[in-house]
Formats: sequence, C-alpha cells, structure tokens
Amino acid sequence: MARVAIVTGGTRGIGAAISISLKDAGYKVAASYGGNDEAAAAFKEQSGIAVFKWDVGDFAACKSGIARVEAELGPIEVLVNNAGITRDAMCHRMEAEAWRAVISTNLDSVFNMTRNVIEGMRGRGFGRIVSISSINGQKGQMGQSNYSAAKAGLIGFTKALAQENAFKGITVNAIAPGYIATEMVKAVPEEVLKTKILPHIPVGRLGEPEEIARCVTFLASDEAGFITGSTLTANGGQYMA
Ligand code: CAA
Repeated sequence: MARVAIVTGGTRGIGAAISISLKDAGYKVAASYGGNDEAAAAFKEQSGIAVFKWDVGDFAACKSGIARVEAELGPIEVLVNNAGITRDAMCHRMEAEAWRAVISTNLDSVFNMTRNVIEGMRGRGFGRIVSISSINGQKGQMGQSNYSAAKAGLIGFTKALAQENAFKGITVNAIAPGYIATEMVKAVPEEVLKTKILPHIPVGRLGEPEEIARCVTFLASDEAGFITGSTLTANGGQYMA
C-alpha cells in the first residue's frame, strides 16, 4: 500500500517540487496551502496532486485539515513541514506583526501539524517527519531576525522530537537549504542578491527546488530509518554547519 504524505506549502516553490518528488516515488500526496487559490488550482491540474487549504499557523485548522486529508487519503505516515514566509526588515524597524506572522507560519505550524499526526504515527509504529529549516536558521541573516529565529527553533524542535519518538519507528529530521531559485529568493533586492549573496555560494549558482526535494524523498524513505535528529545542509557550500 502506498504511504500517505502531506507537504505544507506544497503547491508552490520548494514545496511543489517536494510534492511531485514524493508522488513520483509512489506516495499518495496531499499538498496544503494557505492562500493562493489560483496557484493551487494550477498545481493540482498539472500534477494531479490533491490540494487542501488551511492556515498552518492555526492549531484548530490543522486538526480539522488533517482529519480531511486522512478521511480522503488514509493515515498520514510522512509529514513535511515546508510552509514558510518571509517578512524581512532590520529588527530595529520590524513591526510586531512581521515577527508574529513569521513565527506563526514558520514555527507554530511545525508544532500544530506534528501534534496532530504524532499520536497516529506512534500508534502505528512508523513515521517520517521532515522540516524545512534554512541556512539562515544556522548562520543568522541580517534583515531576518524573525525568520532566522523560526528556522533555528525548528532545528531544536527536531532534535527533541527525534529523541521522544526514535523507539516508536519515527524519524525526525530537518533540511537546511541555502538560496534556492524560488519566488522567495527572487524577492530579495537584485543588487543584494548579486553583490551580497551569489558571490558567497562556492558552487556559483542558486539551488534548484528539485535538489531539496530529493533530500526530502531520501529522508522519508524506509531506507533512511537510522537517520534521526539530523539537519541535512544543502547550500552549495555557502555555510558549512
Ligand atoms: N547580506 C549582506 N548584506 C545585506 C543583505 C544580505 N542578505 N541584505 C542587505 N544587506 C546590506 C545592504 O546591501 C546594505 O548595505 P550597503 O549600505 O553597504 O549597501 C545594508 O545591508 C542595508 O540594507 P538596505 O539599505 O536594503 O536596508 P533596508 O532597511 O532598506 O532593508 C533588508 C534591509 C530588509 C535586510 C533588505 O536589504 C533585504 O531584504 N535584504 C535581503 C535579506 C535576505 O537575505 N533575505 C533572504 C530571503 S530568501 C530566504 O529567506 C530563503 C532562505 O531560506 C535562504
């Protein structure tokens, strides 16, 4: 029987590549998304992957959303916490709302989703949880005190959850992508991208979403059962954690 996987923020950017990679590997995939109905409809049309809309920053919405997914596809065995936003600003100019929005979508979401699938995984004795962190959670990034805090927090969460669940057949890992060619990175001012970021990537280019998706599909596989609590860094050599 095909395993069921859910990818938050799974209809665009890195998330879309992850959803497709898991589908190609034989999983039954659900892609959740928060707002962009048009992109989600186009993604569903092109990929044939089921899409579900809710706010991952809202615990009750995650609970009911997951119930809908499980009613349609079956019990979730692979959770990919990918949903993420940026609200970049120097901390001394950051609005409280920009802090709250990023912590809610990028970090609260990881608890909200995990809490609503972990008991089922423990009961069945199998689970894979992969959360998408960032190079900027490892090294910090000016203009991203909110995002760096959320992405670093997710790594601590991963290590604690891995310890709690290792003996239940559940692995919990994080991936820390560097700068990947998505809308999020393209939103960085061009001058900053050209002069401050690209020159620091030894591989000499941005990463591709599929390069992160392959990492997820590997960590989700049965064969990766001895890897837990780890952070897999994929950043073109920009930062060696
Ligand atoms: N690295 C190094 N220096 C940077 C920088 C960066 N990423 N971003 C900005 N700077 C520099 C600017 O070049 C500028 O320096 P100079 O005065 O020497 O030119 C200085 O910091 C101040 O920048 P601004 O004048 O632009 O100040 P601002 O207050 O208007 O905006 C900012 C500051 C919000 C940080 C804006 O520059 C910005 O958005 N920078 C990009 C931040 C960034 O890297 N975000 C990553 C998004 S991608 C992502 O998050 C995905 C992932 O996981 C990797």
